Amino acid sequence: TITPIILAGGAGTRLWPMSRADRPKQFLALMGEKSLFQETLLRLVSDGRYGAPIVITNQDYRFLVAEQAMEVGVELATIVLEPVARNTAPAIAAGVLIAETRQPGGLVHVLPSDHRIVVDAAYDRAINVAMEAARDGALVTFGIDPTEPATGFGYIEAGEKLASGAFVVKRFVEKPDTERATAMIAQGGFSWNSGMFVFTTESFFEACRQHAPDVLAAAEAAIAKAVADLDFLRLDRDAFAAAPAISIDYALFEKTDRAAVVPAAIIWSDLGSWDAVWKSGQQDERGNVWHGPVTLGAVTQSLVFSERHHVVVEGIDDIAVLASEDAIYIGRLSAAQQVGAIVKHLQADP
Ligand code: GDD
Ligand code: MG
Repeated sequence: TITPIILAGGAGTRLWPMSRADRPKQFLALMGEKSLFQETLLRLVSDGRYGAPIVITNQDYRFLVAEQAMEVGVELATIVLEPVARNTAPAIAAGVLIAETRQPGGLVHVLPSDHRIVVDAAYDRAINVAMEAARDGALVTFGIDPTEPATGFGYIEAGEKLASGAFVVKRFVEKPDTERATAMIAQGGFSWNSGMFVFTTESFFEACRQHAPDVLAAAEAAIAKAVADLDFLRLDRDAFAAAPAISIDYALFEKTDRAAVVPAAIIWSDLGSWDAVWKSGQQDERGNVWHGPVTLGAVTQSLVFSERHHVVVEGIDDIAVLASEDAIYIGRLSAAQQVGAIVKHLQADP
């Protein structure tokens, strides 16, 4: 079986004001009844290929993780707690080290907790190809057809085809600027990195030893001195803090020559910003997506959410109006990527 490693420690700042430091977006029921984290868990348990999930998160979210898993009746293998955020590479290294103790040399599937994915035949085939390529030693990524020169994704250039049906990764470019993204889209042959990865623990350790030995060493030390507490495994603070803060994309995937990509026509959305939520939401006949106590007049192509107050909107186009319990954001929907930068200012000087 494959051991799922779920990353649930991100802050989701671009979905402010609904996504907050004490309840980031993966734990929110943005449109449906279940949170994205819960949907991720349910996707895994309904699939016979997976074992019990390992969740890795910030210690601040430990009760959210435990409660939300219980609510949907999913038994977790372990909840690994990070005392400080060090981005995804150290988090994944800790998760893979735990997976290794449960199933030495086994397959793992690293996945974000904040994506919307539809399980269909294309998804199913993609996972099978990925498992085979991973057994052959590859670090497998999933390639999504790009629709625009977005700068928030990794870009993967596919090379020759492997026996498994996956393709060699010729080049991996994490979060290019607009100019570079536009050039890659124009050139063709690139896909977006979905943010999910499949590999054996062994291939991962080997790549880490070569490209990110300090990440692996810090994760090993943090686990050696970790403290088990109920279902939680608390990583040692000092040891984990010694890890460089770096994402897996920069730490391994831009560097390794062992990466492969499975082109996947999966229905996927990184609900990373409000315009992505609008795109993947239920648009009415005027292109509006709304939720909560909301009244819309002559409004087009807009996103309007309210958690409590009755919000009335009239005479606008391409606007995001987000009214949470205690804060309101209003801005151009097409500029929604800026929210994260503004929130960083708020954190510095609230
Ligand atoms: N445990 C833990 N600790 N999880 C984290 C941390 C951390 O310090 N930082 C982020 N995460 C979680 C997030 O909650 C999310 O589920 C996942 O790891 C990915 O982090 P993001 O911060 O959302 O990454 P990204 O969206 O900017 O970029 C990644 O995903 C893109 C696709 O959505 C990259 O892999 C890109 O290449 C990719 O295109
Ligand atoms: Mg993301």
